[in-house]
Amino acid sequence: MKETKWWQQAVGYQIYPRSFNDSNNDGIGDLPGIMEKIPYLKKLGVDFLWLNPIFVSPNVDNGYDISDYQGIAPEFGTMEDFDKLLDQAHQADLKIIMDLVVNHTSDQHPWFLQAKLSRDNPYHDYYIWHDGKKDTPPNDWPSIFGGSVWEYNEECGQYYFHTFAKEQPDLNWDSPKLRQDILEMITWWLDKGIDGYRVDAISHLKKADFTLPQGNDNARPFAHFQNVAGIEDYLNELKNVFAKYDLLTVGEASGVSAGQAPSWVGPDGYFKMIFEFDHINLWQKTEQKINIPGFKKALSTWQNGLSHGQGWNALYMENHDVPRSISLFDVPEDLEVTAGKAIAMMYFCLQGTPFIYQGQELGMTNFPFTKIEQIETQNSHYQYQELLAQGLTKKEAMVVIQSTTRDNARTPMQWDDSKNAGFSEVNSRLAVNPNYKKINATAQIDQPDSLFSFYQKLIQLRKNHPVLITGEFLELLPDHQQMFVYKRLGETKEFADFLVLVNLTDEVARFNLPEQKEAQLILSNYTVENSLTNSEIFQPFEARLYQVASEK
Ligand code: NOJ
Repeated sequence: MKETKWWQQAVGYQIYPRSFNDSNNDGIGDLPGIMEKIPYLKKLGVDFLWLNPIFVSPNVDNGYDISDYQGIAPEFGTMEDFDKLLDQAHQADLKIIMDLVVNHTSDQHPWFLQAKLSRDNPYHDYYIWHDGKKDTPPNDWPSIFGGSVWEYNEECGQYYFHTFAKEQPDLNWDSPKLRQDILEMITWWLDKGIDGYRVDAISHLKKADFTLPQGNDNARPFAHFQNVAGIEDYLNELKNVFAKYDLLTVGEASGVSAGQAPSWVGPDGYFKMIFEFDHINLWQKTEQKINIPGFKKALSTWQNGLSHGQGWNALYMENHDVPRSISLFDVPEDLEVTAGKAIAMMYFCLQGTPFIYQGQELGMTNFPFTKIEQIETQNSHYQYQELLAQGLTKKEAMVVIQSTTRDNARTPMQWDDSKNAGFSEVNSRLAVNPNYKKINATAQIDQPDSLFSFYQKLIQLRKNHPVLITGEFLELLPDHQQMFVYKRLGETKEFADFLVLVNLTDEVARFNLPEQKEAQLILSNYTVENSLTNSEIFQPFEARLYQVASEK
């Protein structure tokens, strides 16, 4: 068997601390709340946790606008709580990776408060400034959250650059002093014993020449500050710091194609893996539904792009920025559990490290938002205003917002059927999804047919069958409009390949498959016979995992 590293064998669980578990009943999840749930996470079987930012922040972008990199946000607890959490997690054999947000800070970070005072301030150079007259920004580049990337600052009479909200000024990675401060801060955390980083918005570090116009490339509106040539110098500095530790590093790398990925995550890459965006269309402005052929193509392109040791994939279906996957697949209510299992098997058996986002293992779904006041995330408010400006009515705009907003993923975790789903004794800013009486952890953990139990089984299968970790990916029926079918190839002639067949639609699917010798059913979401025939009919969202005779 090929040798594998811990981060290749591991399964991750993403915690959005604000909405995970509230231990002090202030309506906000916190670090002691996470500690309380370590037994739950162990029961599920995951190996590491990724915590969304827990640092001091004015929360314009829920923690992604940091004003103190070395301080814990008081609503989440104290540094002592963090140290305790890290220690308890390690004792339970759970690793912890943190969010590293170094493309930008909050505009309330002491560096920025200094930087904006005058052009001569020693911190001025920590950010990206440009001369220009008020109301005439230096160029027409659009910010990812809407509006221009430029914001005028009266104090020093210049524009500053922001990829995201105007309260999140981008750091100037050309400044050696800034880089040194950032690398020292990273080392400080790594020396504390954290096990790695999810690296936020990292493909945006380098900006192109500001004289370039945005142009008409509507498919790539952020191209001038996404994976721009020269970024490798900055990334190599990060890599050199990371290389001193045995870490899991996963870069959030929008704009990096599967073809470019080997230089990012290959044997000499900057990170161990990256989150790609091709299979999940982030920031899409219209109602969001999955296009099955495009979805299959994106996944197989990434599997093939990083095959044969050219790199390693980070596998995910949900996170704090995208709607819930069951809702994305537009699943009828009576098929939600079945579809949740199909989605789970479909991505979990690919080659890479799977991440589960909190509540995904329970089949949590989008929230039925009807009013903009129910929404917290700032970019949805921008988007709403844009839709109204385009002439949509409030009701029409809310249909779009309801299916696309990131708040769908950020509602409180559904622990049980008591008030506020057991998340807190008080109401939180984002309401609990009204379906919590039916969809909650207590209803599922000891139920052998539940989605939670299905995830447990998938995690154990990965642990028991190294082929599910190392086996190469081979897609079958690439042109089928409903079925995603692939093999994971074992290395020997033994009984060693795995075959995954998933109907990604709510309609019956028919297909012909070349004969599969010695097929043995390992897991399914329907009650089915062991056999697999050459001409099959799969029920809506039916999913099966077989062991079959090796191709080799
Ligand atoms: C990506 C994060 O996942 C998202 O939540 C955040 O708003 C932006 N980066 C800006 O940091």
